[in-house]
Amino acid sequence: MLLLSLLSALILAKLTLAQVGPGVVTGNTAVHDPTICKDSAGKYFIFSTAPGIEIRTSTDRTAWTLVGKVWPNGANWTDEYTGTSNGNIWAPDCYYSNGQFWLYYSASSFGSQKSAIFLAKSTTGLPGSWSHQGMITSTTNNNNYNAIDPNLLVDGGNWYLSLGSWWTGIKLQNVTSSTGKVSGSSVTSIAQRTANGGAIEASVIYKSGSYYYLFTSWDHCCAGTSSDYNIRCATIPPLCNDRPTGGYVDKNGVALTAGGGTLVLGSHGNIVGPGGQDVMTDNDGPILIYHYYTPSGSFLGINRLDFSSGWPVVV
Ligand SMILES: *[C@@H]1O[C@H](CO)[C@@H](O)[C@H](O)[C@H]1NC(C)=O
Ligand SMILES: *[C@@H]1O[C@H](CO)[C@@H](O)[C@H](O)[C@H]1NC(C)=O
Repeated sequence: MLLLSLLSALILAKLTLAQVGPGVVTGNTAVHDPTICKDSAGKYFIFSTAPGIEIRTSTDRTAWTLVGKVWPNGANWTDEYTGTSNGNIWAPDCYYSNGQFWLYYSASSFGSQKSAIFLAKSTTGLPGSWSHQGMITSTTNNNNYNAIDPNLLVDGGNWYLSLGSWWTGIKLQNVTSSTGKVSGSSVTSIAQRTANGGAIEASVIYKSGSYYYLFTSWDHCCAGTSSDYNIRCATIPPLCNDRPTGGYVDKNGVALTAGGGTLVLGSHGNIVGPGGQDVMTDNDGPILIYHYYTPSGSFLGINRLDFSSGWPVVV
């Protein structure tokens, strides 16, 4: 009897935890490289890597429904970069403001610098509603970086696009806010690794207070439960933090260009290779969304981030 009630108390505690935990997601959560936006009605949208880019929606940020694709009829302008017909479109990044969704996404193939970043816009975010805004930037073998993994930073009136994967790392370009297109050809290097073949990608710049935080994914995605992807973070020191353009250091003061990068989330328990992240501000504060691997695929994780110590802590 005692054992039984103890057991049921334990089960109840676990259920209660599981139900209130911000990390709990249900429904169709088989995503890779998720990005999240919330429209003015409070509806959440996740866009993720797939042929045509998958769209999932939720009213509570917990239960997710796959509603279709950004490009239900394919996006043949990506074929020359994916090297196939209707191939995977990679790592989208969404921004929502004033009734308008902006969606950046990339097309390439593994290990290739023949890559491009494109922009789409929509007022509803739903399948079939998107208009093609053309190519934003591209790279070839002649560049020293790789034009994939876009992330838009809207910093007051100043818009920036960070991008890059492996090679010489993460770059930043200015963006014209009216068009969403990069302005000029100036490309600033903001992070580079020499360790592990230079395995850094999936940049996200998030502003908390007056600090710019640069989130990246290190090491290897896309190898199932052998993936050793992990989420890192660095910030700009107080004396030069009026611009997101560089000088990022980790918690120990090590420059991100010199191997620095504070671990935010690595493999733990059943969560293998978390990465491909996005960060968004919601009513309950900043949230981190990412994918992780299990033997049956890659799945969505959502946690709140606590910046009260000055550094993001997953809670
Ligand atoms: C894509 O498809 C459209 C419609 O069929 C066609 O007009 C266009 O030439 C195609 N573009 C490419 C790059 O294949
Ligand atoms: C990029 O934008 C910032 C902020 O407006 C500006 O200070 C800087 O000069 C711009 N850089 C280039 C290369 O246009």
